This record gives sequence, C-alpha cells and structure tokens, in this order.
Amino acid sequence: MNEKLKNLLDLENEKYINKTKNSYIKHQTSQDVMPGGNTRTTQWMDPYPFFVKNASGLNIHDIDGNNYLDFMLNATTLILGHAHPEIVRTLSNQIKEGTVYSAPTDGQFKLADILVNRIPSIEKIRFTNSGTEATMMAIMAARSYTRKTKIAKFEGGYHGTHDHVSVSVYPKKSELNESTHPGISEYSSQPKSILEDVIVMPYNDIEKTKELINKYKDDLSCIILEPIISNFGYLPLDLEFLQFIRDITTELNIVLIFDEIQSFRVSNGGAQEAFNIIPDMTTLGKVIGGGLPIGAFGGKDEIMDLFDPTSKNFDIAHAGTFNGNPLTMEAGVTVMNNLKQNDFISMNNLGEELRKQLRSVFDEIDLPVQVTGYASLFGINFNENKITDYRSFINNNSDIAKVFFAYLRNKGILLQVKNAGALNTLMTTNEIDFLVDSTREIAIQIKEAVY
Ligand SMILES: Cc1ncc(COP(=O)(O)O)c(C=O)c1O
Repeated sequence: MNEKLKNLLDLENEKYINKTKNSYIKHQTSQDVMPGGNTRTTQWMDPYPFFVKNASGLNIHDIDGNNYLDFMLNATTLILGHAHPEIVRTLSNQIKEGTVYSAPTDGQFKLADILVNRIPSIEKIRFTNSGTEATMMAIMAARSYTRKTKIAKFEGGYHGTHDHVSVSVYPKKSELNESTHPGISEYSSQPKSILEDVIVMPYNDIEKTKELINKYKDDLSCIILEPIISNFGYLPLDLEFLQFIRDITTELNIVLIFDEIQSFRVSNGGAQEAFNIIPDMTTLGKVIGGGLPIGAFGGKDEIMDLFDPTSKNFDIAHAGTFNGNPLTMEAGVTVMNNLKQNDFISMNNLGEELRKQLRSVFDEIDLPVQVTGYASLFGINFNENKITDYRSFINNNSDIAKVFFAYLRNKGILLQVKNAGALNTLMTTNEIDFLVDSTREIAIQIKEAVY
C-alpha cells in the first residue's frame, strides 16, 4: 500500500477505534470463546467488527451509539428493511403458538405456493435452513436424476460452504494457471476425490466452457451458476453466454441449476424471469425468509419427485430438524406478500439511478472504477478494466477498497466489505444522495493519494 493511502487508512481506523470502544472490548472478550470473536467469517471487518445493539428500518445501531445506514442488509436479505412492523407482528403472533413442530403447517403450503407461482422454473419446492443446504440438495437431486456424478461450477462462484462447492471460490492469483481452470481447494487437505468430481469453468467464456462441457458430458450431472454473480459486484452474466449454457445443458441432459439465493430479489420471478432464461432447478434463500434463516430448492416436477416418499422414484431422504419451521414460514409469507411488482420497479429504478450517479462521480474525478450491478444490486470496483470473470475481478485494487469501506463506515454507511450492496423498499433518493456525496468526498482523497 502506498504511503499516502496507508495514512488515509490509518486515520480512518483510528477514528473507528475511537468511536467503537465498547465493541472493541466485546470483541476482545468474545475472542476467548469464538475464533475471531464471532461465528461467521463474513461478519469480519478490519480492525474488528462493531457489535450491534439493535436495528430498525434503514439503520443499524451499535453498542457505542453509532448509526449505520445499511446497504449490507445481511448480504441482501432485508428487502423490507430491519424489524418491519408487519414481520414483527407476524412473528410475535406465531411465537405464542409454538416455534417448531415435526409436522407440516399451513405456512409451509402458503410460502411454497407463492414461490411456485412466481418462479418460472419451480414446479415443486422444498425448504431448508440455509442456502448452503439448498445448493447441496439441488446438486444431490441432479446427480440422482441424471445418474451421473460430476458437477460443474464457475471460477469465483460462491454457492455456500459444503465441500462440492468449496472449490475455486477465492483462488489466489498465484494459484491460477493462465490457460486452464483446474479446481483449487478452498482449504488444505480437502479430499482429492472432491476435486476430481468438480469441473471448474470460466464465466462468460463460451469457447473454453464448451470444450470442458463436451469433455466431461458423459459424467456431468449439473452446472450450477449465478445469473448475477454476487462475488463480482453483482455482475449480470452475458445473456449470450447464459443462453449458450441453457442450450448445451438441454442438449446433453445436464441439469442446469440457477443459484438465485441473492439474485431472486431483482424481480417478481427472479433473474430467470428478468432474463427470460429458465433453468431446470433453482436455489433460493435470504430474502424469502423475511429475515429468518432459510434456504429452498425447487424445479421440475420429475426431478423433485425424487424427494416424494410416496413416489416410485423416491431416492433422497431430505431431513432437517428446522426445515419449514413456522416462524420462518410466516415471516417468509409476510415478506413475499409485501413485495409487489411496483416495489421491484421502484427499487430497481433507484438502483439504476445510483449506479449512474456513482459512475458520473468517478468520471468527474477521473478515478478508474467499474460500477457493476443490476436492478437493486450494486458493486464499486477499483479496477481499470472491465470485469467479465474472476480473473478480471481479482485485479480490483484491494488497498483502495479498504480505504473506501473504512471511510464510508465512519460516515455511517455500511456496505459489504468488498464495497457492494443492495437497496430495500424503504430507500429513497435521500439515501442514494448520502451514499453518492460521501463517495465523492473519499474518491477525491483517493485520487490525490494514488494518482
Ligand atoms: C449465491 C449464494 N449461494 C449460496 C449461499 C449460501 O447461503 P447461506 O449463507 O444461507 O448458507 C449464499 C450466501 O451468501 C450466496 O450468496
């Protein structure tokens, strides 16, 4: 990191430490009982995360009395904002009726019915407690349905933390071979057999992807991808590429799984509806649980039949002590009933306006930045070149990104640490203006420090 940039970062960190003294103490004591002082790697931020007291509407309040305008939204989950009154009411009512039973409820049916009606690829659906479980079950289903064992994913694609998707998610630059994309373990001593079963392909590269699919087609059960790549600042995939994947998977009897755990929020029926490209299976999470833990996977009737104990095709026992618990189901129904076509239109228009204004600030200051995103999702990438895949994304300048994040946090704006974020239905031009104005302030300082 250059000297001037380091000075900027030191200054911002010092301000943060001064205003989060109670969080610092909590962090220290929490480290005695949890590695890193918390229980989720994505909660980590330098020099330590602030501890939350509570949150409502647009804002999170920390235990030192600081407020943060929240664009992080628990990784895009909170589409109605924090502690939405109707969700609070629904949960208070449900909690008096019991929190979990090992039998179905009407809430399960209602949420399933809403999602089946909204999402083009989903004829039948099942609920889990996390997105990780959803992608794991969808992959299992694809294997059972096709009677093939290998899976393909894309370099830099994140689909949760189970073993078969923990391959080439964040490979280091030094590990990448120029022309090939061998699977790279996300942790040491991952069984080699996993790497043999996972084919890694480059996003947006038709030629290389075609070659790999054809090479492994007889063993390939499924391809899992995000139509809008959350790891790369919510970069929408090229539609030509997406259509190519749809066509070749249909032709070769490979199940196409869209991971819409984040991208579902772009329209009534998710990115598949917005792009009019329909997969065989879809995984969901985040938004659809109304702020409670959730995941879901669904798709063609004939694939989901594998989970039906009354069917002759029954093959996969899908257990889960808290699957479809009534609290999550009722919160999910409430959030979905509150999301109408107009909400998507206004959130997405605001997102478009935000990306336009951010681009114009960076142009005005002449700072090389790629503003990515789609609909209500955005990413700010300090990168001189267009981002198309993992290898172009990792050229983002992480030193500048750290300074930018730290400055906004001190201003009372919370982004994801990689400087991406999402809008919710409560946001207006006021929130956008605050983010854009603060961006201008720090962008000027960064420009002076670096160029
Ligand atoms: C695209 C995508 N897939 C899967 C997951 C895993 O979901 P969960 O954290 O609920 O297990 C996430 C979570 O961030 C995600 O963004």
